[in-house]
Amino acid sequence: MTDRYRRQLRYLRVSVTDRCNLRCVYCVPGTPQPRLKHEDILRYEEILRIVRVGVKLGIAKVRVTGGEPLVRRGLVGFLKELTAMEGLHEVTLTTNGVRLEEQIQEIRQAGIRRINVSLDTLKPTTFMRITRRNRFRKVWAGIMAAYRAGFDPIKINVVVLEGINDGELADLAGITRDYPFHVRFIEYMPIGHTGCDYGRQIFRDEILERIERLGALTPIPHQSLDGPAERYRLAGARGEIGIISAISHNFCSYCNRLRLTASGQLRTCLLSDEAIDIIGPLRKGCSDRDLEQIFIQAASRKQERHHLNDICRQSVDDRMSAIGG
Ligand code: GTP
Ligand code: 5AD
Ligand code: SF4
Repeated sequence: MTDRYRRQLRYLRVSVTDRCNLRCVYCVPGTPQPRLKHEDILRYEEILRIVRVGVKLGIAKVRVTGGEPLVRRGLVGFLKELTAMEGLHEVTLTTNGVRLEEQIQEIRQAGIRRINVSLDTLKPTTFMRITRRNRFRKVWAGIMAAYRAGFDPIKINVVVLEGINDGELADLAGITRDYPFHVRFIEYMPIGHTGCDYGRQIFRDEILERIERLGALTPIPHQSLDGPAERYRLAGARGEIGIISAISHNFCSYCNRLRLTASGQLRTCLLSDEAIDIIGPLRKGCSDRDLEQIFIQAASRKQERHHLNDICRQSVDDRMSAIGG
């Protein structure tokens, strides 16, 4: 599946739920939000059918996201089906880690070998400030359980927020000296009306500058199924540093992604509300050929780049937790 700008779409991000057991300030508004009704969420067998069609068209990697995927019942059985699907080379999971420790063995038995965990700070009080929940120790215990269980790599996602966790960038990067983890610093993307407005944003160059105080960074080449992170290694470190600079140096020119939301919409870009309905036709009994056409239509509608930086800025209304990042 190739789009109008000759980008091959091989990576499908699948959000299995809009629910979450944290309330990160950069992701969800502080006030209670309406949730999708159970019947409006794609069932696992529906997602599997959609993914099978995607695989026929060239999808080789699926990342399961949320909300928080580990809060949806039956997830492990679903993961097992995905990892057994012929033609899929990689199935991975992005989680907030809160329930990781208790589920790690089952996740491993389901055939998952790599995971990404959101963790923006090493301080329990800052964790509480960012996620509005007191779960730092559980998340760290989850990461350690994943490490002991042999997950490799474990990627840690840090959204950089000025005045909140930006004083910890070197400490967070320092984790890669002690553990073979990939610590990825993410520029905050202002979408979904979260009310998260920290004034000055901290962008890639400044993030790199602060980390380089720890030592020289050697770049690592990008591979075809990789997500958007630029990769580096600190001299002598076991793990890697990643920078995800969606705002200051967008990576749209090598975007290889489509997104399936829990509500059954195929989104063409994280930073645009353009989406094609797939749950409707699916529940009206459409054929696999029709589903293929929906994928092809989504690919053909992918825009060349996002427009969040433009003077006449395009805004994104949907919440991050409903799209899955
Ligand atoms: P890997 O497959 O391990 O490289 O992971 P990934 O970086 O693709 O996935 P992850 O779920 O860990 O997301 C990390 C960050 O990248 C999150 O902030 C996502 O919102 C962001 N991200 C992932 N894909 C895109 C994209 O296509 N566009 C933008 N703007 N951000 C993205
Ligand atoms: N900007 C950047 N990254 C975000 N994430 C969630 N909301 C935002 C945002 N507004 C990240 C989380 C999670 C990943 C899927 O998306 O860190 O790890
Ligand atoms: Fe939940 Fe992840 Fe959003 Fe935080 S970033 S509220 S953990 S979905």
